[in-house]
Amino acid sequence: MDHVRPASADDELTPASPGALPRRLAWALEVIAPRPTDRLLEIGCGQGVAVAAICQRLTRGTILAIDRSATAIVAARRRNRDHVQAGTARFETMALADMAVGATRFDKIFAINVNLFWRDASRELEIVRRLLVPGGRLHLVYESPTAAQLDRIAREAVTTLEAGGFPAATVRRGTGNDRHLIHIASAGKVARIRF
Ligand SMILES: C[S@@+](CC[C@H](N)C(=O)[O-])C[C@H]1O[C@@H](n2cnc3c(N)ncnc32)[C@H](O)[C@@H]1O
Repeated sequence: MDHVRPASADDELTPASPGALPRRLAWALEVIAPRPTDRLLEIGCGQGVAVAAICQRLTRGTILAIDRSATAIVAARRRNRDHVQAGTARFETMALADMAVGATRFDKIFAINVNLFWRDASRELEIVRRLLVPGGRLHLVYESPTAAQLDRIAREAVTTLEAGGFPAATVRRGTGNDRHLIHIASAGKVARIRF
């Protein structure tokens, strides 16, 4: 995790109002564009700042957020106490590789500044593929200070995604104040229909 900015003390102090979101999270919400009825999964939610902003947009939608750090999940649950009580948000301490695939499917699965997808993530991507509804999308957002590092992240992530059954990823760079951000999205391989 040498060139992705880790969550900072500023994020910890950020109130759960979308207007006060750190820029990378505000941009992530723009490009992921959660709809009010979406079922969402966030991988590596940290202290739950994005979840808090997303819950304000959800009507019948829900979000499950996982993080392998128990400390992060405690903070995320605390921040999103009301959304948890309302049944809109749920948090689990868990690495993606350990997530069981049950009956629940997600419209959008996303990760912000989680370096998991730069390396071999075949096990994790298989889980993501099984968790997505047909036509659902995986969204990755990264922040990095230089264009060269963003290019490298994009190359590595796209290669990992292709190897894991997520071809034809779209890569979008932020502009202006968002030029340090990148969004990579893919719907995954379409299952072959047998007649
Ligand atoms: C740099 S922080 C980003 C937190 C938050 N997404 C944000 O942008 O503020 C990366 C988070 O991903 C979590 N993480 C890394 N690999 C993970 C995995 N395989 N499964 C679940 N969580 C993971 C870490 O514990 C950490 O909280």
